[in-house]
Amino acid sequence: MSDAPSLARPSVTLKLATSLDGRIALANGESKWITGEAARAEVHHLRANHDAVIVGSETVIADDPLLTARLNPPPERQPLRVVADSRGRVPASAKLFSTLEMGPVAVATLETQNLDHWPSTQGLQFWMLPPGEGGSISLPELLNSAQRAGVSSLMVEGGGQLAAAFMRAGLVDRIEWFRAPIVLGGDARPCLGGLALANLASAPTYERTSVREIGPDLWESYERKA
Ligand SMILES: NC(=O)c1ccc[n+]([C@@H]2O[C@H](COP(=O)([O-])OP(=O)(O)OC[C@H]3O[C@@H](n4cnc5c(N)ncnc54)[C@H](OP(=O)(O)O)[C@@H]3O)[C@@H](O)[C@H]2O)c1
Repeated sequence: MSDAPSLARPSVTLKLATSLDGRIALANGESKWITGEAARAEVHHLRANHDAVIVGSETVIADDPLLTARLNPPPERQPLRVVADSRGRVPASAKLFSTLEMGPVAVATLETQNLDHWPSTQGLQFWMLPPGEGGSISLPELLNSAQRAGVSSLMVEGGGQLAAAFMRAGLVDRIEWFRAPIVLGGDARPCLGGLALANLASAPTYERTSVREIGPDLWESYERKA
C-alpha cells in the first residue's frame, strides 16, 4: 500500500502565467502573450498530465481558448475541459463547444439553469451544481462531480476570480507559476482576486519544491504546507 496521503477529492493544481508583479492581463483584457513560447509549451505538458482543466466564464468570453494539450506527438488522452459558467454567460459559439472531437468538455453550472442556452452538441457534459460562495457554483460540489466523472487531478487555469475562489475555499494543493520578466502595474488584472484575509496567520502558505529557468521566464512549483 502507498504511503502517499489519499485525498477524498481530486487534487487541484493552480497554474499561473503572470508578469513579475503577478498580473495576467491588461485592464483592457489583452493577455496574449505574457510568458514566452517555452513556458507556454510546458503548459501543454501540464494539461496532458491532468485529468481535467478548468477556466472561469470570463476567460472563455475574453480569450475563447481551446484548452487542449497541443503536443507533438499528441498525448494519448486529452484532459476533460471544464468551464465554470454559473449563469450561462459563455456564448454557444465558443470554440470549446465546437471542438468535442478534440477532447471532452463539461459545463459546470447552477442546477437552476435552463440547458437550452448551450448547443445540443452530443457528448457535451453538464454538471448541475448548487450555489456556493457569492451565488456562483459550489466548488466542493464541482470537485464531487469531477470525481464522479473519473477526474483525480484538476488544473485551474484562471482567471483571477476563479483562482481566488479555489484559494479561498482552501482547495489549491499545488501551484505551477510561470513568471515573465515584464511589469504590468496595479491597473492590470491580478492573477488572484481578493482573499479577504483578516490576518497573515490565516494566509494560505506554500513550500517551493522547484524553480527552473524556462527561456526568459521563471517556473516555480509550490506545494501546500500541511
Ligand atoms: N495569463 C494567463 O495565463 C491567463 C489565464 C486565464 C485568464 N487570463 C485573463 O484573465 C481574464 C479573465 O479573468 P477574470 O478573473 O476576469 O475571470 P475568470 O476567473 O476567468 O471568470 C470569472 C467568472 O467565473 C465564473 N465562476 C463560476 N463559478 C465561480 C466560482 N465558484 N467562483 C468565482 N467565479 C466563478 C463567474 O461568473 P458566473 O458566476 O457568471 O459563472 C465569474 O464571473 C481575461 O482577461 C483573460 O485573458 C489570463
